[in-house]
Parts: sequence; structure tokens; C-alpha cells
Amino acid sequence: MSHPQDGPALAELEDMARRAGAVLRERYGLRHTITHKGSVDLVTEADRRSEELILGAIRERYPSHSILSEERGDLPGEGDGCWFVDPLDGTLNYAHALPFFAVSIAYASGSRVRLGVIYDPLRDECFAAERGRGAWLNGQPIHVSAVSELRESLLVTGFPNEPSEIVAQNLRYYERFQRQTQGVRRLGSAALDLAYVACGRLDGFWEIRLNAWDVAAGGLLVEEAGGRATRLSGEPDYLRPPCSILAAGPALHAVMLSILREE
Ligand code: 2AM
Ligand code: CA
Repeated sequence: MSHPQDGPALAELEDMARRAGAVLRERYGLRHTITHKGSVDLVTEADRRSEELILGAIRERYPSHSILSEERGDLPGEGDGCWFVDPLDGTLNYAHALPFFAVSIAYASGSRVRLGVIYDPLRDECFAAERGRGAWLNGQPIHVSAVSELRESLLVTGFPNEPSEIVAQNLRYYERFQRQTQGVRRLGSAALDLAYVACGRLDGFWEIRLNAWDVAAGGLLVEEAGGRATRLSGEPDYLRPPCSILAAGPALHAVMLSILREE
């Protein structure tokens, strides 16, 4: 197997995500040391430890690479390689002992995401994708659903934790889709939402104000599972801040885009 610019192999990302996930699993449901970051954004000790583990592994093997990470922010590097790390996506779920959260790690080179892994430690589900090679759940190939009509679809979206005008805007979209689909879920982890679209458990996902580390691995997963991922405008560069993402199978993606564009 060849790797561009001698970058990492998918198995390295899987190993990091599994070890970080074990940290989250060990501390899940325990009384957490919680510091408040803003009004409802909770940062747990588990979150920090998971991040230290992943960043330590990247720094040790790829010291020249840059890293964009949820807690530590932007750590610039000299080389072409760039990592997107969310050590705990679904922080609020985790803090409430609600079992829906994941570790998300992506690797990019030449301005393209090449590798992505999302690991759910409670279900021991490891979603992985490599650009041009495919997407897998625990080693088995996965595909987006073939659903092409809203009335057959189950969708998922998310809202920012902080109150903002984005919430009101997204509630309008929520109502439109709720009327025309089998339902719209709000599960609280953008990374896992995208992984579920990639394996066909959910048919489509959209969310307005996210960060690149929330969607870098999940966007690649959906694309490699045969789906489309774009901004809500339909433009391709969903990692450009402020990130927005619409992800679904190609036919449903086109339908969802037309609904979002309605005045
Ligand atoms: P987190 O759990 O790591 O905070 C919920 O819909 C999703 O949005 C989660 O993936 C959550 O990530 C993320 N999220 C919550 N609040 C956010 C905010 N203010 N900006 C960007 N992403 C946010
Ligand atoms: Ca996140």
C-alpha cells in the first residue's frame, strides 16, 4: 500500500481512535471534573485525556504536521500534512451519560482529506474511510442508503449548544423536513450522525454552524460510501469556516438541497 508523502496509514488512525475511545469508555458515567466553557459547553477531563493521547501520537510520529483540534485549537506545522481531531464529539451527551458520542480523526494532505476514522467506544464500532478506496464499519464495506424520496427518509440534524440566530434558522429547516419525511432526529454528535449516514442507518444529515474537526472524517466517510457532502449552499468546500454540511445519497442530496433553497 502506498501513502502520499509518506503520510500515515488508515490503521494508525484506527489505533489512535480506539485507544482514545478506551479513555472515554473508562470514564463514561463517572462523576466528571467539569469546567464550564461558555454557558452550556462542558469540557471533561476525559475529553482532555483523549486529546492528549491522540495529539501525543501524532506529534511523536509526524512532528512537522499541523493539527486542528477541538480543545487545543490550531497547532501549525511546516509540512503538507494536516490533522483534524475531535477527541470527544457529543460532549454534552457524554457529560449526561447519554450513550451517543465518538472520537473523530482525519488526515489531509494536498488540501484534501485522505483518511478518516470515527470510533464509537460504547458499541465498539469503528467507521473508517480512505480516499479512493472505500469506507468500512469494523472492516466490512459500507454504503449510503438508496432512499431517494423524502417520504421514505429518516434524517438527522444538529444545533449549536449556544443560543444564536442559527438555532432559529435551523428550526425553520427542521419544520420543513419534519413535515415531508418519516422523521428528523437530533442526536448530538455530528461525527456519528455522518457515520450513520455513511452506513445507511440514516438517510441524510445537515447542520449549519460546525467546525472542521466535527465533519472532516465524516464527510469523507459519506463520500467514500457513495454519498455526496457539500455546504448547505451546494458548494463543495464544506470544511471552509464557518462550516455547514449537507450529506446524503446523491439522489436524496439533490432533493434536500432544493428544500433548503426554498424561500
Ligand atoms: P461537541 O459535542 O464536540 O461540542 C451537535 O449538533 C454537534 O455540534 C456536535 O458535534 C457538537 O460537537 C457540535 N457543536 C455544538 N456546539 C457547537 C458550536 N457552538 N459550534 C460548533 N459545533 C458545535
Ligand atoms: Ca465536536
